[in-house]
Amino acid sequence: MDSPTASVFSLPELKDVFPGCSSYEELYNFSINETDLFWGTLAKLRLRWNRNFEKVSDCDMETGLFRWFVGGQLNVSVNCVDRHKEKDASRVALIWEKDEPGQEERVTYGELYTMMNQIANVLKSHGVEKGDRVAIYMPACPLAVASMLACARIGAVHSVVFAGFSAEALASRIVDAEAKVVITADQGVRGGKLIELKKTVVAAVANCPSVTAVLVAKRTGNPVVSSSLDVDLDEAMIKESGECEPAVLDSEDLLFMLYTSGSTGNPKGVAHSQAGYLLYASLTHKLVFDCNEGDIFGCVADIGWITGHSYVVYGPLANGVTTLLFESTPTYPDPGRYWETVQRLKVNQLYTAPTAIRLLLKHGNEHVEKYDLTSLRTLGSVGEPINVEAWHWYNKVVGKEKCVVVDTWWQTETGGICISPRPSAPGSEIRPGMPMRPMYGIWPTILGEKGEELEGNNVTGALCLKKPWPGMARTIYGAHGRFLDTYYRPYRGLYFTGDGAIRHSDGYYQITGRMDDVINVSGHRLGTAEVENALGQHPSVAESAVVGYPHDIKGEGIYAYVILKDGYSADAKTESELRATVRQKIAGYALPDVIQTRSGKIMRRILRKVAADQTEDLGDISTLADPSVVEDLIVHHRILV
Ligand code: WT7
Repeated sequence: MDSPTASVFSLPELKDVFPGCSSYEELYNFSINETDLFWGTLAKLRLRWNRNFEKVSDCDMETGLFRWFVGGQLNVSVNCVDRHKEKDASRVALIWEKDEPGQEERVTYGELYTMMNQIANVLKSHGVEKGDRVAIYMPACPLAVASMLACARIGAVHSVVFAGFSAEALASRIVDAEAKVVITADQGVRGGKLIELKKTVVAAVANCPSVTAVLVAKRTGNPVVSSSLDVDLDEAMIKESGECEPAVLDSEDLLFMLYTSGSTGNPKGVAHSQAGYLLYASLTHKLVFDCNEGDIFGCVADIGWITGHSYVVYGPLANGVTTLLFESTPTYPDPGRYWETVQRLKVNQLYTAPTAIRLLLKHGNEHVEKYDLTSLRTLGSVGEPINVEAWHWYNKVVGKEKCVVVDTWWQTETGGICISPRPSAPGSEIRPGMPMRPMYGIWPTILGEKGEELEGNNVTGALCLKKPWPGMARTIYGAHGRFLDTYYRPYRGLYFTGDGAIRHSDGYYQITGRMDDVINVSGHRLGTAEVENALGQHPSVAESAVVGYPHDIKGEGIYAYVILKDGYSADAKTESELRATVRQKIAGYALPDVIQTRSGKIMRRILRKVAADQTEDLGDISTLADPSVVEDLIVHHRILV
């Protein structure tokens, strides 16, 4: 059931702007056929500009050059904060739902304005200028949001690094971006545990020559390791003015970069620009979730991921609603945490990941049924395919079959939601377990094995997008060639998503999962090569191969096959050292669930015999993972010699 306020477009003004369109289908077709008119009209209507753009789009999917709202100038922070503060400074912008339930703090648009400007002035006083990069290593909290907006205020490019990454992972991101300043907190608090953020930053910046200052916010106030670069953020803010003239930026200046995993190499800094990203994040936020002024929007993702950027920070704030900053976990202090929060704060839209839904489902309905969830109208899912059982539980037990359930498909690279059951006419059909319909302006297509576009319905293949859209990534920071190779060269003239999909008989889309060596662990994207590289840095490892396997809760678990060097034995000690290495190189979520170690000695003994053609006398091969491999080796050996 949709809310009584929902119109076909959820944007009443669109009726007057696109008068020829009276249904989702008509407006969708219009958005595809008259792309520039569609986006140009919305950009004028929904954003505040310092200078109007001259051209809506200048895009080329062959060469990978994308520019939207060319010649236009604006400031994203003005659009997210000033506009709403001018109307009503006392409207609540953020509700910080801290780790301990019942201790939430509210920040109004007026307060956010002051915080943001103070931080912007602190950054300036440390020499940060337009185009400089600033790394943010903080959990979800008002100062983190204000820091992102402060960068936007002065035209600095933020790079938020998920506060669960190790010092080495953080350092490699800071080095790649050549960040000048790092903003962090003394400690994090999650699930009742302290996280040593500052300590990690000190270890990281020791290897980052570009960093000239580390701004440290107070979260716990406990004493932490210090370094000569430290600046007490709270103290520095008090000294600064709460006014900071917003930089006037070109539509295509970079707003932020965010590192994400690919099938090869190090994580890449996906770069987004100002105007197109903001328009796309805010429009999708409004239309997919039916989120209107006065609503309390609850996206429980961390700000360290794209979901946090688009649907905790930029989308909701551009739309002037109240957005939740969730610091805790789904099961702290008990598995009723989400639902107790929804009841206490009267959350209208909840946006979470299938892995959390599956986990809570296992804990039983009693944790949900205790609470009054009647404030909820839209339930969103993101990050991985949602299985039908979890979808039904979300719809029935949480939504009481009265909420709109939206399975939303998108990526770090797409900037915002691309396929989702809404927008579409209120009451129109929603199928469990698939994102179904393309967003306005998004034209999905499915490619077959020979790279041909598959026409008609009932087809399965590689999911590509045929038309540029304003929220699309503009480049990989410092690696435009890699950007082209990854997204625009596999299928010429199309954006390749890396995902497989089915177009069902009724035209609805379902995602089948990654087609490359990227795995999805609890909604976190991880390259198998990254884990292999990490394992390879332990002295015992000769070689490793990492794959995903189906996991009840996580969606995919991590399975590592490891061949040990001579002299190392496949015991519990080695295994625990291997896990520690992965934690040290990447993060806790990248730890393999299963490590299957094999001693290289056994293999080498056999290989020697195969090479010497002494295959009558191989000895015991029953300990091999797959003894039939030896047969293959022998066959190949005979071909070779
Ligand atoms: C990959 C992107 C987009 C925000 C969170 C993840 C998978 C995402 C869905 C969905 C099936 C999904 C895809 C995609 N994915 N949403 N609704 N159904 N798969 O962003 O870290 O950039 O990962 O997540 O495989 O390519 P990300």
